[in-house]
Amino acid sequence: MSFRDRFTTAWRRTDMLFGLVARDAMQSRPIALRHPFIFYVGHLPAFAWNHICRGVLQRPSFDPRFDEIFDRGIDPDVDDPSRCHAHPDVPERWPALDDVIVYRDRVRSAIVESLGDVAAHAPTSLMAEHNRVLSMAIEHELMHQETLLYIVQQLHPDQKLRPPDVAYPSGNGVWPRSVVIPEGKATLGASFGDLDFGWDNEFPLTRVEVPAFVIDSTPVTNEQFRYFVDSGAYDQPAFWSEADWAWKTRMGLSAPLGWTRQDGAWLYRTLFDVIPLSDAGAWPVYVSLAEAQAYARWSGARLPTEAEFHRAAFGDPDGDERAFPWGDERPTSRHGNFDFTRWSPDPVGSHPDGASAWGVHELVGNGWEWTESLFEPFPGFDAYIPGYPGYSADFFDGKHYVLKGASWATASDLIRPSFRNWYQARYPYVFAKFRCVRPAI
Ligand code: AVJ
Ligand code: FE
Repeated sequence: MSFRDRFTTAWRRTDMLFGLVARDAMQSRPIALRHPFIFYVGHLPAFAWNHICRGVLQRPSFDPRFDEIFDRGIDPDVDDPSRCHAHPDVPERWPALDDVIVYRDRVRSAIVESLGDVAAHAPTSLMAEHNRVLSMAIEHELMHQETLLYIVQQLHPDQKLRPPDVAYPSGNGVWPRSVVIPEGKATLGASFGDLDFGWDNEFPLTRVEVPAFVIDSTPVTNEQFRYFVDSGAYDQPAFWSEADWAWKTRMGLSAPLGWTRQDGAWLYRTLFDVIPLSDAGAWPVYVSLAEAQAYARWSGARLPTEAEFHRAAFGDPDGDERAFPWGDERPTSRHGNFDFTRWSPDPVGSHPDGASAWGVHELVGNGWEWTESLFEPFPGFDAYIPGYPGYSADFFDGKHYVLKGASWATASDLIRPSFRNWYQARYPYVFAKFRCVRPAI
C-alpha cells in the first residue's frame, strides 16, 4: 500500500473512533493517568507535523503553539492520579474542538503534499531513509487508536455513541493444555537494517538461551478468573506483593475493573454494554499485571518472561524461528483477533490457524499478553529517533513491564516479532490478558 493510502486509511479509522465519543465529552478525562480526548485529536497531527514537516523537511510552522502543547502525551510513573498533570506543558484549559480540527486538517493536507519530498532527504537524515519518518507517524497513529479505545471503555455509557455493528461472539473456547517448550534459543528484537521501520526499543537483535518450561496453550479466561474471585483468593493478601495489595485496596478492587455484581450474578462491561459475565466466560480475562500475578501465585504458577514468550510464539522444534506464530504468512483474520475485525475479544482458542509450532494458541491477537519481564533496553540500545530520545528511555524506569502480541484493537501493521508494548504493573485499562508458565519436570 502506498504511504498516501496508509495515511488515509489510518485517518479514516481515527476519525471513526473519535466519533464514538459524544461531542460534549471531548474535554473529559476518564483515565486520570492519561489526557482528555481533545488532547489526542491534536496530538496525532502535532506528532506527524513535528517529525515529518519540522524535523525532516524543516518547514516553518503555521501554529507553533499547537505544535508545542500537543507534542507529547503522558504516562507519569505514579499510581496516584492526584500526583500527575503537574507538567508545565499541560495547559489549564485545552483549545476548542473546532480549532483543533482546523489544525488537524491543515496538517493532514501538508503531509499529503509532502509525502514525495521525504525520500530526497535520505542522504542526510536517517528518518528520511526508507521513509522511516512516515512509517513512524503511521504507527504512532495506530497505537493511539488502541489507547483511545481503552479510554473510551472507561467513559460513562451516556457519553459514547454505540456503533451499529456490535455483536458478541459466543462459544465455549478450548481448554488449556500444558505444552512443554524444550530448552532452545530465542531471538529478541531485530537488526536495524532488516526493518524499514522499528521503534528504538526493538534494536538491536538479541539472542538468548531459554531453559525448558511448560506453558498453557490458552490464556486465562473470565470464567477461570471468576473462580479465583469467588473463592475469596482475590481478597487474600498472601497472593499479592505488598505494593500491589496497597494499590488494590486504594482502588477498592474486589474483582477486575468493570466487573460488578447484581443479585448474586457477575456482570461484565464491554466497550459499549454491560452483559452477564457468563456470556463472556470463555473470553480471556483483561487485568493488570498485579492481578495476573496474584492469580498465577494462587495457582502455583508464574507468567512467562519476554524470552519465553518469544520461544513459545516464534520458535519451532527444529530450532528455527518464524516471523509469526503460524509461519511466515502476513497476518490475516484467519490467524487471530486483531485489526478491529470486532469490538471485543473472542472465546480463547478461536483461531487454531494462528497457533504456534508447539500448538500454543493466540499468542498474537485477542489481547496483549503480560510478561514478567521489566521493560529494559537490549544491550547496545540506541535512542536513535531525533527529537524523541525519551520515546522508550523514559520508561526504562524499573516500573514498566513488557507486553507482547496484539489485541483486537491492534492494527496488523504493528504485528511483528520485535514489537514491544509496555505498561506499569498496576495499570488495569489495557486490553491485556495473560497465561501461566510452570517449571518443566
Ligand atoms: C507503546 C502504547 C505504551 O501510548 O503510552 C504513543 C505508545 N508513545 N505516543 C503509549 C506511545 C507515545 C505508548 N505505548
Ligand atoms: Fe503519542
